Amino acid sequence: LTPPMALTPPMGWNSWNRFGCDVSAALVEQSADQLVSLGLASLGYGYVIIDDCWMSPHRDARTGRLVPDPVKFPDGMAVVARYVHALGLQLGIYEDAGTTTCAGYPGSLGHERLDARTFAEWGVDYLKYDNCNHGSSVTTAQYIERYAAMRRALDAAGRPILFAICEWGVHHPWAWAAGMGQTWRTTHDITDSYSSMLAIFRVNVGLSAYAGPGGWNDPDMLEIGNGGMTPTEERTEFTLWAAMAAPLVAGTDLRTISADDLAVYGDPEVVAIDQDPLGRQAVPVADGDRGPGDRGLWVLSKPLVNGARAVVLFNATDEPQTMTTTAAQLGLAPAVSYVARDVWAKTSSTIAGRLTAVVAPHAALLFRISEPAGRASWSG
Ligand code: DGJ
Repeated sequence: LTPPMALTPPMGWNSWNRFGCDVSAALVEQSADQLVSLGLASLGYGYVIIDDCWMSPHRDARTGRLVPDPVKFPDGMAVVARYVHALGLQLGIYEDAGTTTCAGYPGSLGHERLDARTFAEWGVDYLKYDNCNHGSSVTTAQYIERYAAMRRALDAAGRPILFAICEWGVHHPWAWAAGMGQTWRTTHDITDSYSSMLAIFRVNVGLSAYAGPGGWNDPDMLEIGNGGMTPTEERTEFTLWAAMAAPLVAGTDLRTISADDLAVYGDPEVVAIDQDPLGRQAVPVADGDRGPGDRGLWVLSKPLVNGARAVVLFNATDEPQTMTTTAAQLGLAPAVSYVARDVWAKTSSTIAGRLTAVVAPHAALLFRISEPAGRASWSG
């Protein structure tokens, strides 16, 4: 029996956003080293994930097994897994539910049991399972069955392996993937731009009802550090992903990361909001006549343990905006006053029932709001 997994959203590093097909054992091992030496591993960034293009173009002719590319992974995958495990980290790998991966390497369709067993033997802890090359005329039911087949194969493989369903939201995986996978992508691929990040946010933010311990909406990997967003926009991506209880998977080069980008990935208070044990995704709170976000202004409220809330004021417009919300709108229990912690600024203040701030274009302020300590002592 598989023990409960992903009680909080998975965290780690993945090769794809920054390196595409340019993967190797050296890159994976150096990235694992960096997770530890930069302090990210101790914050919870525990999965080192190899994306597409790690394979040889053909299966082994005799055994039918997948073969790592002998140039990129000269000592095979078990050696890489041992290296990663020795650092206290876990290894993720990539495959595809169709006939070939997106980059054209052998897919797992019809080979699910053998491939799952192979991954288990290598010591793999996480499988990202992609969605390319299914062929035409596949019904939705057949298509879901291809993901279910890999689920059964993983169950039979003899090693707990986190199953990251990378289905791009096409067949609404939030409706069927809970209980099958620990994460499910909700959109097509992110690219390194504010507009891509915003478009993905707008889809994923509406799916909070489906997320919880053991099963998370996945708005794709983080682009912080890759150069296509301003520092403000990068911080916004991290703020929104944390509020949405998203998997936090760094998609940049950890060997050359700047101190500023590292400070975003490594902010312990923001990570703690993502990883809050209650496991709730933020809900958008009504702020205009046509509902949340209708004027490009988003107020998000994420319930945290002990009755606190994480609150985001996100200004998606191109002008500075004064934004306001109230304790009632956020769903906070009535109180005379609250402590509002500005999580990025690291300052706290006492407020009554109203939170107002000027928010710069494309910025997202993040607050942690709780009642002052000591009030409970009145009871009894
Ligand atoms: C599509 C996925 O959505 C991406 O995250 C990445 O895995 C590529 N395929 C790799 O080909």
